[in-house]
Amino acid sequence: MSMSTQCPNPSSPVTTSAEIAAAAAAARDWAAWRAPSADRPMMVCYNENPFGMSELARLAAIDAVMRGSRYDFPGIVRLQGAVGRYMGGAADNVLLTHGSSEGIRAAVEAFAGPRVQFVIPELTYGTGADSAGRNGMTITRVPMLPGWKIDIDGMRKAVEDWYGPSIVYFVNPNNPTSTIADCAKLEAWIREERPTTAFLVDEAYSEFVTDPSWRSMAPLVAEGVRNLVILKTFSKFFAMAGMRLGFNYAHPDTVRLMRDRVAYDGMMKTCISSATVAAALAEIEDPEFQRESRAMILESRRILCEGLDRLGIAHLDSQTNFVFADLGRPIAPFVKHMADEHIYVGRPFPPADTFVRISLGSPDDMRWFVKRLEAFREKGWV
Ligand SMILES: Cc1ncc(COP(=O)(O)O)c(C=O)c1O
Repeated sequence: MSMSTQCPNPSSPVTTSAEIAAAAAAARDWAAWRAPSADRPMMVCYNENPFGMSELARLAAIDAVMRGSRYDFPGIVRLQGAVGRYMGGAADNVLLTHGSSEGIRAAVEAFAGPRVQFVIPELTYGTGADSAGRNGMTITRVPMLPGWKIDIDGMRKAVEDWYGPSIVYFVNPNNPTSTIADCAKLEAWIREERPTTAFLVDEAYSEFVTDPSWRSMAPLVAEGVRNLVILKTFSKFFAMAGMRLGFNYAHPDTVRLMRDRVAYDGMMKTCISSATVAAALAEIEDPEFQRESRAMILESRRILCEGLDRLGIAHLDSQTNFVFADLGRPIAPFVKHMADEHIYVGRPFPPADTFVRISLGSPDDMRWFVKRLEAFREKGWV
């Protein structure tokens, strides 16, 4: 069946109904600020977006549920185009995935083969290495530079010392460190286009960057570089962690390689829930929501970083929606004290054993958090 012979969806949208308005009001109430409690703890541990989906996205998702008996092929086609444009390319550069986690696995498997080495910084997001391990690859962890910076030269040396193909994976800006890599060095390396080196650059947090020296590697895709995949998620900036949507952005030939490794192998190759597609479309075509979402996160970052600075608690230069703060001592007691306040911070990230990762909540969350830190200081806990 080709797209041109496809039936239009016969149901009409129902976004004006009283039920939908009531559901939207309930969602707003759910999102209203309250002091953390056992019933509603402050979750600053998973780098989610505290502001939630835009109201339009919520309405669109509810509307899609009303029509949930239909496959949403037209919506998927529209979303592929919108995502392609968002990244500066086209629909055929885009593979939609069930969260970026599926996209990371599909990308790793697309470049898998005998004697493939998987090169990562010592401290980065773990899903890539998990997939590589399951696919029998040798995992080479390159130590970080002082200040927990990614050592691009060290990663390059690991690739050059290996007799066989390499996959280079890392996050930029990085999780959990929150800092950016040397983008000029990285870009020059990718531009060499060695056929035995594939780059998986995870730009999950790119929308939160303010450092002018950072740049996305996405323009290289539009220029035709093949051994490069930009990994993206809708879980962070777009506040859709529970809706499960990500995408891989790459040369169309590379997209075809990865396409066989995602969950659904039908006509569209990938088939995302219609509620998720509707919400994503509402947000990716809404520059006002994007501007506001970013501004709020940057405000939360300012409040938390200024609070840490006032207390003399060192932290890395955050370019993300979380902050990596150095307590100067093992973090387990701090994590416990915060949990007693119904505040959940990130888990330990060895070998950075004295660092705690604090995801950004709303500005009110962060004001509350800083007050707890001040109280902890009086008790000698920080
Ligand atoms: C760098 C990075 N990539 C991917 C993901 C996973 O994204 P998703 O929720 O879309 O699977 C995360 C989640 O924390 C992340 O930090």
